[in-house]
Amino acid sequence: MNNKPITTQSGAPVYDNQNSKTAGSRGPVLLEDVHLVEKLAHFNRERIPERVVHAKGAGAYGTFEVTHPVSQYTKAKFLSEVGKKTEVFVRFSTVGGEKGSADSERDPRGFAVKFYTEDGNYDLVGNNTPVFFIRDPLKFPDFIHTQKRNPATNLKDPNAVWDFFSLSPESLHQLTILYSDRGTPKDYRHMHGFGSHTFQWVSAEGKAVWVKYHFRTDQGIENFTREEAARVAGEDPDSATRDLYTSIAEGNFPSWTLCVQIMPLEDADHYKFDPFDVTKVWHYDDYPMIPVGRMVLNRNPENYFAEVEQVAMSPANIVPGIGYSPDKMLQGRLFAYSDAHRYRLGTNYNLLPVNRPHIADVQNYQRDGAMRFDGNGGGSVNYEPNSFNGPTQLDSAKGYHLPVSGTAESTPYQHDDHYTQPGDLYRLMSPDEKERLIDNIVHSMTGVDETIQRRQIEHFRKADEEWGNRVASLLNIAVKANS
Ligand code: HEM
Repeated sequence: MNNKPITTQSGAPVYDNQNSKTAGSRGPVLLEDVHLVEKLAHFNRERIPERVVHAKGAGAYGTFEVTHPVSQYTKAKFLSEVGKKTEVFVRFSTVGGEKGSADSERDPRGFAVKFYTEDGNYDLVGNNTPVFFIRDPLKFPDFIHTQKRNPATNLKDPNAVWDFFSLSPESLHQLTILYSDRGTPKDYRHMHGFGSHTFQWVSAEGKAVWVKYHFRTDQGIENFTREEAARVAGEDPDSATRDLYTSIAEGNFPSWTLCVQIMPLEDADHYKFDPFDVTKVWHYDDYPMIPVGRMVLNRNPENYFAEVEQVAMSPANIVPGIGYSPDKMLQGRLFAYSDAHRYRLGTNYNLLPVNRPHIADVQNYQRDGAMRFDGNGGGSVNYEPNSFNGPTQLDSAKGYHLPVSGTAESTPYQHDDHYTQPGDLYRLMSPDEKERLIDNIVHSMTGVDETIQRRQIEHFRKADEEWGNRVASLLNIAVKANS
């Protein structure tokens, strides 16, 4: 067999890849063994910062196909007609754990989709839950600190978790989901995905609507119990990663049906709560599910680091026909992701094959920077306006201009009902589901400071008195009956 030679990074063939060059057979290793030096130095630099959240993940390529007409609502080209297909890359993840943490841990799951459209990449960076723990981006770093490790012990810290939850009652809806069966999905195929925030769709006529996205799993929902999740965490910490890769490799392609809820623009002013508040869901009776298309994942990445680790998902990546909303969390995220990518991957991260648009041309006047590994615009003009036929702005890319008024100040959301939706969710659960929810909560809250337990129990009781009383009784906390 005639193997190709090993080379150095500069391409020179290597004479010996087994024995370092020494001064004599028992002498010290020579600095002039540049192959050894290069190999050790490159190895030292193999790690890049892991994502500050959602560090552990798995991804795959696939296709999104439009199955129902929605072009009356949006001029987004990838949604323009039934039958239209668009390549996607999806990254699933857990949130709080490090890159080597167990896939089955109780945690929301990230559900991030990159659509490679002809108008550039559109990223829908959501979770497997329709709501979130907080609704102001200013609270995000504090919240995440409570989900990570205690600064002194370096251990996960239930006291911090429940202290923050109990002092942030807007978290109740999401934590109800987190401690229910849905907090431990069996794998990434058997769960829904949600855009969670409210977004905007804009039609070719310039008419706008508010929209929420739902990816419904075609595999059905399957969850672990707490005990199963703990067992699997020990036996196969990469269970969901393995499941996704193996299913696709075996030709068992997972799929999701994309539906949207659409709200007329003017309803936002008088809906029963603020529709931009990401701790709430819109009622299906008010805004029914409208089917849009089907997403199938059918190709595994060839290289985990190149594709899954280096993929850069950002809610800021939108295309004409899609807009942001005033959801404060979404607004904060518009900054956070590309900032994280510049830190984690470098300023030219969009040149990486998984990140660059696959069927759109990138044309702008940005040049140079570390690791500029394409042609850097060659000799083309690098300023605008110019007289040399450089790219120009496009009128048809105009979005909807949202009228605003008021005073610039730090403003909370006006609606403060943190209890109705979590209470409704609790009451919808079967007796078994309630039992497991309460058991999971009590398991997590056992050992937490009593003041914190009492504060959190009152939130459960406000949502549903029976729920709070059951948690209290199992934690041996005496509570007064609500009058
Ligand atoms: C990842 C920030 C809220 C879903 C990340 C990353 C950051 C971040 C910095 C790492 C990005 C990277 O290094 O590539 C924030 C901030 C938030 C917020 C500041 C609130 C203000 C949310 C919400 C959702 C979400 C509400 C879901 C609805 C995700 C997902 C990822 C992620 C799915 C992983 C993306 C991937 O697979 O590469 N977030 N996040 N985040 N976040 Fe958020």
